[in-house]
Amino acid sequence: MTAAAKKVAVIGASGFAGGELLRFLLSHPGIEVVLAASSSGSGAALSDTHPALRGLTNLSLDKVPSPGAWPQLDLVFLCLPHGASRDLVPTLPAEAKVIDLGGDFRLQDAAAFASFYGCEPPPAALQTTFVYGLAEVAAAGEIAAARRIANPGCFASACILALAPLLERGLIEPRVIIDAKTGSSGSGAKPSASTQHAGRVNSLYAYKSYAHQHLPEIRQALAKLAPGWGEELVLQAHSTPLVRGIFATVYAQLKPGISIAVVDAAFHEYYAAQPFIRLADHSSPNTNWSRGSNFVDIGWVSQGRELTVFASLDNLGKGAAGQAVQNMNLMFGLPQTTGLWHAGGVI
Ligand SMILES: NC(=O)c1ccc[n+]([C@@H]2O[C@H](COP(=O)([O-])OP(=O)(O)OC[C@H]3O[C@@H](n4cnc5c(N)ncnc54)[C@H](OP(=O)(O)O)[C@@H]3O)[C@@H](O)[C@H]2O)c1
Repeated sequence: MTAAAKKVAVIGASGFAGGELLRFLLSHPGIEVVLAASSSGSGAALSDTHPALRGLTNLSLDKVPSPGAWPQLDLVFLCLPHGASRDLVPTLPAEAKVIDLGGDFRLQDAAAFASFYGCEPPPAALQTTFVYGLAEVAAAGEIAAARRIANPGCFASACILALAPLLERGLIEPRVIIDAKTGSSGSGAKPSASTQHAGRVNSLYAYKSYAHQHLPEIRQALAKLAPGWGEELVLQAHSTPLVRGIFATVYAQLKPGISIAVVDAAFHEYYAAQPFIRLADHSSPNTNWSRGSNFVDIGWVSQGRELTVFASLDNLGKGAAGQAVQNMNLMFGLPQTTGLWHAGGVI
């Protein structure tokens, strides 16, 4: 560890997103994790909760500090259920930057937040201190200059990245249908009827029709790229027997006269400088390719004016912890690939 290592805390460290974040951070060359905490933290070894981290850290899993009792920190990661970050952020040390992996600060529209999350939105004065942290579509320098980041949702990341080059160049009609699938780790570490093995391993079902909380997030991000866009977008989420992985299939219609060569150029040019976007051109990616990594794999196929785009990522990688580290790197002026430049498992 260098003397200049940035000191960070992970709150919600016992969960899936927090655990995955620690996996990335403990091998990051510019970071020292000084606190791992959750509401039930008892001071026992962190590796008791996450045995995969054994040998890499002597940290304990502690309780969340009271206001005024926080250690000196450069950045705090929040990996908490909806509503918890909204309440915790005002108590954090003022000098610490914040990256929230949950949804509390992603939506600018308070009414949409209340409707889709079913809980009280953060005050506008607090929400507006957060920048939406999807580096591939953000304005130049926007994330580097931010003190607080709302880390995007997993479905939202895949869907926005599948559509961004097409919208930026005005290549598709406004009606878009997204059929998106997730693995069970997207629901967090606490066992429930929808995540237990027996109920999940042979099943596939749709959920939250017209009501998924990532729908307004996708609309908000797309409207920023192409004003007025997103109202005609449909998102249908499905649970699959996977543990990790998001796979979004996006059905769109090309505007008259737009050829597949124009689509090819749009994807290649838009993502030319983006290290974590890999293009599979006219074929489907596979969730195996990005599992455990921060990569997003995007492919597309067409017939006449019909265009189908596929985007695949790891919900805990680019969909959560990997993306949070990418944002942290940008906020600390580091290359965005630092600590993230590795493939997932080959199978
Ligand atoms: N899982 C994913 O694929 C994914 C992807 C993108 C974003 N996210 C978002 O990331 C956040 C965490 O998700 P997750 O899947 O990691 O959930 P999780 O596995 O259920 O973990 C939640 C963590 O929050 C802690 N916690 C709960 N209430 C708390 C409170 N009031 N104060 C302090 N700690 C508290 C829990 O610890 P205790 O058990 O000790 O309470 C646990 O460490 C959620 O907002 C989720 O939407 C998750």
